[in-house]
Amino acid sequence: MRKIVIAGNWKMHKTKQEAEQFIDEVKQLKTNERVEAVICAPFPYLSSLVNKVKQTDVKIAAQTMHFEQSGAFTGEVSPVMLADIGVSHVIIGHSERREYYHETNETVNKKVHAAFSHHLTPIVCVGETLAQREANDTLTHIEKQIKIALDGLTDEQIANTIIAYEPIWAIGTGKTASSADANEVCDHIRNIVAKITSEQTAEKVVIQYGGSVKPENIDELLSTSDIDGALVGGASLEPASFIQLVEAGN
Ligand code: G3H
Repeated sequence: MRKIVIAGNWKMHKTKQEAEQFIDEVKQLKTNERVEAVICAPFPYLSSLVNKVKQTDVKIAAQTMHFEQSGAFTGEVSPVMLADIGVSHVIIGHSERREYYHETNETVNKKVHAAFSHHLTPIVCVGETLAQREANDTLTHIEKQIKIALDGLTDEQIANTIIAYEPIWAIGTGKTASSADANEVCDHIRNIVAKITSEQTAEKVVIQYGGSVKPENIDELLSTSDIDGALVGGASLEPASFIQLVEAGN
């Protein structure tokens, strides 16, 4: 049975004090063996939050990283640095990074390789714009994103990749894809992965849905055949709401 991964992506929110207080409030959270709770925090807080979650069921992730190990890349953070401070996961290719920071399918692929080289679990984001959905291009667009993102990985690495399907039109808008529509795309993603690797490997891949997920809709999303968790923005900012989301997976 696949894991359920509930990841809260705080984006560019919270002071250090607010971040630490959040962890104090959620650290009593007990997840069962099948559920993983992850907080994707801003870079300045990662080290302190990693220390705070020791002996708890919460994991700490970064929201992006560079693909090089080190070098003259002012302002960037490398996979070596993240691994060094004990970060376990990293979001790669979030649509906001693709839109505002020119990340491409090719840089996403380099970052996924870099993540595995440093024992970080990549959460690879894919998803279509409203224009692409209306033009019936969703599946073709996502197929291209997945094929390039996973290019050159071993079957084992693919099995350990988390894929987050986030329709861009549903992010922060309050519009959620219906659970049936979201599941249809997640099922398609699993079929693409099966074509690249094998059915067995594809069955192991955790596929999250993201886009206006909240405590009110998480149960329905998780009741589908191919949605194995959620990448949550706004509703992950409040401890009570994050706890409810994680408990829905328990
Ligand atoms: O990474 C999270 C997604 O962008 C979803 O954000 O839950 O605020 O719509 P949202």
